Amino acid sequence: MIARSQLRAGVGSLVFCASALIAHVGIAQDQSAAPSDAAAPAAEDAAPADPELAAMIETGHTEYLKNCRPCHGSKGTAGVPLAGNEKVSGGPDYLIWAILTGPGYMPEFAPALSNEQIAAIATYIENSWGNSNGLVTPDDVQSAR
Ligand code: HEC
Repeated sequence: MIARSQLRAGVGSLVFCASALIAHVGIAQDQSAAPSDAAAPAAEDAAPADPELAAMIETGHTEYLKNCRPCHGSKGTAGVPLAGNEKVSGGPDYLIWAILTGPGYMPEFAPALSNEQIAAIATYIENSWGNSNGLVTPDDVQSAR
């Protein structure tokens, strides 16, 4: 009897946990949908005004997902967060330095990525997640090497 009721309680809390998890994931998705929905029109707005900036953001997004997402997450919120990070949102200089040199346990990307790739990644980050710091050029990266 005791064992059976414990089992029932166990199953009950398992079901509860599962539904709580589903509810939590649902909320998390809702929350993550909101900022990207808000950011999407801004990126689209930038397209006609500055096609060069829009193209760099798009290239940079692809490069970011390839090179940075494993540690910093697709929205810059994982590991050491890049989204909402004042050192990053203040302008591209610190970001470029970090990508080139790889502080702490981060790999250095100076040998692996071109100035164009790093400029694109920096442009993407500096114009995402509430940042709007404009174009970062390959020359900016070259002069930081
Ligand atoms: C292998 C994991 C890894 C990858 C890949 C990685 N990083 Fe990092 N990154 C880290 C770690 C760990 C730190 C914290 C370093 C330290 O100890 O200061 C960091 C720190 C940073 C910082 C400094 C943050 C701060 O608050 O000082 C920036 C900016 C940054 N990373 C950007 C990037 C970008 C952009 C990419 C892609 C080109 C990238 N990282 C790829 C692991 C990674």
